[in-house]
Amino acid sequence: MKAVDGVDLKVRRGETLALVGESGCGKSTLARLLLRLIRPTAGHVLFGGGEDILAYSNAQVVRARRDMQLVFQNPYASLNPRATVGRIIAEPLRVHGFDGAVRTRVRELLDMVGLRPEHYDRYPHEFSGGQRQRVGIARAIALNPKLIICDEPISALDVSIQAQIVSLLRDLQSELDLTCVLISHDLSVVKHIADRVAVMYLGRVVEIADRADLYDAPRHPCTASLLSAIPVPDPVKERERRRIVLTGDLPSPAAPPEGCAFHPRCPQAQPPCARSTPHLEAAEGEGHFASCFFPLPGDARSGDDERDGAAAPRPPVDEGRPSPSRADAPAPDRERPMGDRTQAKDHHPGVANRPSRRDRQSEPGRTVAGGDGEDARCLAESLRCRSSDCRHVRAWSTSPA
Ligand SMILES: Nc1ncnc2c1ncn2[C@@H]1O[C@H](COP(=O)(O)OP(=O)(O)OP(=O)(O)O)[C@@H](O)[C@H]1O
Ligand code: SF4
Ligand SMILES: [Mg+2]
Repeated sequence: MKAVDGVDLKVRRGETLALVGESGCGKSTLARLLLRLIRPTAGHVLFGGGEDILAYSNAQVVRARRDMQLVFQNPYASLNPRATVGRIIAEPLRVHGFDGAVRTRVRELLDMVGLRPEHYDRYPHEFSGGQRQRVGIARAIALNPKLIICDEPISALDVSIQAQIVSLLRDLQSELDLTCVLISHDLSVVKHIADRVAVMYLGRVVEIADRADLYDAPRHPCTASLLSAIPVPDPVKERERRRIVLTGDLPSPAAPPEGCAFHPRCPQAQPPCARSTPHLEAAEGEGHFASCFFPLPGDARSGDDERDGAAAPRPPVDEGRPSPSRADAPAPDRERPMGDRTQAKDHHPGVANRPSRRDRQSEPGRTVAGGDGEDARCLAESLRCRSSDCRHVRAWSTSPA
């Protein structure tokens, strides 16, 4: 079984990279791999100056852990109930041979995370969930780490406390120049803190982009579905909100589907998606990558700006113009789409107003797919178009491919 497979990620110094995805998609496993709490069967984890921490001896790993710390999901389970808060926060200082005054440092840390000096001698059960998570954060930053990995740091907390912890993390990050990997399944939280967002599905990263790009123009249907789940704080807009509800459960990583792992649940799926596996490729927008043969169009925006700055994703199927870079998309079948295309149009209205095929082929940078000269954009448009007299459909039905 591969809980995480083929992940290739860079976390830039000082940034917050959010890892999001459905429960069970491999976020925590990836976090544990990054910290070498577990070892991958293959691959590398390069840290700092580019050294592979998987090749470190145990003593080197202990030293490296000074610079890499974890904030756990559950503040109730991650603190020793028999130890005082002072002792809990002091533990990493003692383990790593802190040479200053431990008590003074712990008081300083308590202050940094918004707790009071008198909390030093209290036990975890004497705190609220939010306060316990502050203790967990104080412990994580005790050694001035360079990288902090927060695994669902707020999912066990109620909404008002979530905002406080997000705000605390953001402040600490800029104050301490921390690099942060934030794991969450909640994109409404991530948009307040992340610089870049990576979306995972069944152990793989399926889309990665700057936060604004991802929220304004998600390219992968899985991302669009996650974004469509963000509630809008306006009752009227909320009623009109178009949810993209995925059917079925996350498949087992022990027996992932053939082809694109998302295809059994994808509203955009086409028959070729069951045969070939897409890889992360550049989408429109700098640093935007998605692994989808038929990505959502990158230029349309929804009017749901009430989502606290985040534009809503487009519906799963419209008159979209997929990325012309998908030149290696598999040849289409002439069958009906596989997914639940509830909003499919009878005809592709964008086709009539676009330049001729010859004109489009002469555009600079145009990618041509297949020997018949039809490009990848036309390929995907013809797949979306259900009209028998669409010239794109005719082009493909007569194509040798
Ligand atoms: N120690 C383990 N042994 C076997 N399978 C495991 C182990 N740890 C995790 N898994 C499996 O790996 C997959 C990914 O688990 P992981 O905990 O990384 O998911 P996650 O994305 O963090 O989910 P959540 O959002 O619920 O925390 C799951 O299918 C899980 O059952
Ligand atoms: S359109 Fe196809 S390739 Fe893209 S996510 Fe859906 S199933 Fe995968
Ligand atoms: Mg997890």
